[in-house]
Amino acid sequence: MAERIPMFAGNWKMNLSLEESERLISQIKDGITNLEGVGVLVSPPFTSLPDVKRALGESEIRLAGQNLHWESSGAYTGEISAGMLVEAGCTHVILGHSERRTLFGETSEMIDLKVKAALGAGLTPIVCIGETLEEREGDRTFDVITEQLDGSLKNFREGKIMPSSTILAYEPVWAIGTGKTATPEQAQEVHQFIRQWVSENFDGETANDVRILYGGSVKPENAKDLMSKPDIDGALVGGASLKAELFIPIIRFRES
Ligand code: 13P
Repeated sequence: MAERIPMFAGNWKMNLSLEESERLISQIKDGITNLEGVGVLVSPPFTSLPDVKRALGESEIRLAGQNLHWESSGAYTGEISAGMLVEAGCTHVILGHSERRTLFGETSEMIDLKVKAALGAGLTPIVCIGETLEEREGDRTFDVITEQLDGSLKNFREGKIMPSSTILAYEPVWAIGTGKTATPEQAQEVHQFIRQWVSENFDGETANDVRILYGGSVKPENAKDLMSKPDIDGALVGGASLKAELFIPIIRFRES
């Protein structure tokens, strides 16, 4: 069985100027030289992608878009296609983030179309799922996760194949930007459930290979404990990914 290499993805959301972005990339590069056995990715706003790509240079750090439109071109004012992300240097794209779902009305059906478009352009999708506090308190976490997975990965289910490079990210909405992290046990319980869903809908090998990241108030102080859980394969980091002094120790969790 192949071992899953942990991945740490920085979701910058709508933050950082070009100058701040370049400075941060240079600090991250310096902070992880010679570090092996982890994947690192940053996801800046669209307008910063080409500059960040240039700043990354020959580094192994990967670049992701924060969203895309499923059509390849056309009259879609304000939208960006998968091909445009590839042209800007992206290898990955974050899809279905809860902020897209709740603030911009994205549905699992739309996310499914986006996943398909990403794959078609050669991008690896990072598909986000997660329950709200109300859903957790109403004991609906597993139903919501199942609904989101069923809907957002419908085209994989219909084709009965899920590329093992696909990355899933469990981000409980109540833990995003709130300082309230899921305990490692709470996160592990849901991650295990997600892996089981992959196994049931595809096969054991795919379930073993797919990386499941945790997101929601990840910081240097909690990264190691979260990473000690067998089904947590890395983190999708928001606020703490904007500061090198926080993001680097998260990436270097093994040394803390
Ligand atoms: P925070 O790390 O700021 O809670 O954000 C998590 C997130 O939404 C990453 O996609």
